[in-house]
Amino acid sequence: MRLISICILLLSVAILPYTISAKKATTIDELVEMYNIKPCAQCHPDKYEEWKTSTMGNSVVDPRVLMGMRSFIRLAIDEEKSLKREDLTICLNCHIPQIKDAAPELIVHIGNLVLTAVEAKDEIKREEAKKELSKLNLNCLGCHNLKGAGSNVQPKAGVIYVPDDIDDSAHRKAGYETQKSDILKTSEFCAQCHHCPPEVPWKDCPTLYTTYIENFIHKGHKETCQDCHMKGAEAIHKFFGPNNPDFLKSSISLSVNARPTKYINIYENKKTPAVVIKIELKNNAGHVIPHGCIFSPKIVMNLTVKDQDSKEIFSRQKEFTVGDLYFKGGKSVAMAEWDVTATEHFDLGIKPDQPFYSTFIIPLKTDTKAVDVEVILKYFYSRDEIFTIGETVQKVIIEN
Ligand code: HEC
Ligand code: HEC
Ligand code: HEC
Ligand code: HEC
Ligand code: HEC
Repeated sequence: MRLISICILLLSVAILPYTISAKKATTIDELVEMYNIKPCAQCHPDKYEEWKTSTMGNSVVDPRVLMGMRSFIRLAIDEEKSLKREDLTICLNCHIPQIKDAAPELIVHIGNLVLTAVEAKDEIKREEAKKELSKLNLNCLGCHNLKGAGSNVQPKAGVIYVPDDIDDSAHRKAGYETQKSDILKTSEFCAQCHHCPPEVPWKDCPTLYTTYIENFIHKGHKETCQDCHMKGAEAIHKFFGPNNPDFLKSSISLSVNARPTKYINIYENKKTPAVVIKIELKNNAGHVIPHGCIFSPKIVMNLTVKDQDSKEIFSRQKEFTVGDLYFKGGKSVAMAEWDVTATEHFDLGIKPDQPFYSTFIIPLKTDTKAVDVEVILKYFYSRDEIFTIGETVQKVIIEN
């Protein structure tokens, strides 16, 4: 999903009057102190441990995110006259919602740390910058306070929004108010960051959430994001994603059926041996996969056929991805390549309930005795992290 037009909207939200009243943090430590989660961690150590290593707990220092923000600073902010370094809030709004309470000089400082973390020649400098940035993340209060009441609802300071009716005495003693918020159990809760704000017309914002509604909910399914990603009632705070091998593998069923055959070759006046391969990829997730924010991950399927001497006689590759591209002559707005309203959407992903099928009929030499049909499915999470999702090898004996 391309999130920039949303971001511009969010930017205008971020400068609404209500934020002016609060004191603004000028250092990272001040901002961390304003959204201090140490007390939450002390009483909910299980949730804290699960969350800490999740993508949410690393929503800035994730190497993909650091590189994405670096490129946004270099290729958008620094090149567009209308933008200033503090406009990095465009990205930070979702990645660290607490940023609404940061002073402009702190945003500029965070941007400088992002550049150091990615570009500094000295490894020690890069690591120091990352360590400082790792204090910023999407934490308990980002979800249970800032986003806990729902979109366009102003959250109340000092309130913990919870999904159920609970005994709130522990929270009261620790100085917090507790409020039940029904939105926490719904997919709309996640859509606050995984989709555009409700004001953006549906058709202008093709995101993972759009595909969840159109290709999953409208097809009669009922599961929420939490049912799959937090294991429902267990409310596991790892926010399982593609970087969890078992979760990732559960998203796709790969089946391969390879059979020997012969076809009539009228030119040569003989029967030519062949192998027929049928491949089916079924997406078990609740939306099109793969999907992303700026940089879209890729799923790549590789088919190779080798003869009895292990010599490759056939190969094919198919890529699945989703992305947005800007073309010359398109809407000319600032940062057009980053703007969902100026780019064209390409959905080359795999839809739930709509398996991807492909069939190959591969002619063989008459002396072929057997072939190995190998299908490998890989998920390119980042340049350095490539996960194998599925793998099968079938030996097919060719009768002559
Ligand atoms: C002094 C200990 C303490 C602190 C500090 C604390 N909690 Fe709790 N919290 C509890 C207890 C005890 C319950 C369970 C009450 C129950 O299950 O009836 C609870 C319940 C919750 C629930 C709802 C659980 C449910 O079953 O619906 C949420 C969400 C929650 N806390 C989040 C937080 C967050 C976020 C923070 C930090 C801002 C925090 N808590 C700080 C003790 C604490
Ligand atoms: C509307 C909320 C929102 C805004 C604004 C936003 N992001 Fe994201 N970002 C997300 C979400 C949600 C994910 C996880 C997306 C997924 O995996 O489908 C993410 C993931 C990423 C990733 C990981 C790789 C990928 O593309 O999935 C990068 C890089 C990234 N964001 C960079 C940026 C940059 C740079 C900006 C500002 C130009 C930005 N984000 C603005 C919500 C946002
Ligand atoms: C990305 C958003 C997000 C973050 C970050 C987050 N939570 Fe939650 N949390 C939720 C949602 C959503 C639920 C409700 C899940 C449900 O009931 O379907 C929940 C439920 C809970 C519950 C109730 C669990 C239960 O058994 O019902 C507790 C306790 C809790 N969170 C504590 C925390 C603490 C502590 C942190 C920080 C370490 C944290 N949360 C961070 C979204 C978040
Ligand atoms: C406050 C904004 C926000 C909310 C609310 C939110 N997310 Fe996210 N989510 C993000 C951002 C930002 C990232 C990217 C973090 C990264 O790549 O390091 C992300 C990443 C993810 C990822 C991992 C994607 C990847 O490429 O590894 C999953 C899975 C996910 N979110 C699921 C959920 C679910 C399920 C909910 C609702 C229970 C939810 N999110 C609520 C902002 C949010
Ligand atoms: C039926 C279960 C199911 C439901 C419902 C579901 N997901 Fe997923 N989701 C998965 C699986 C499995 C994956 C791993 C496959 C992948 O990442 O390609 C995944 C992947 C993701 C990713 C990473 C995308 C990528 O390819 O990098 C994000 C972000 C995400 N889901 C968010 C959500 C949100 C937000 C919702 C609700 C609007 C949701 N999911 C609903 C099962 C589900």
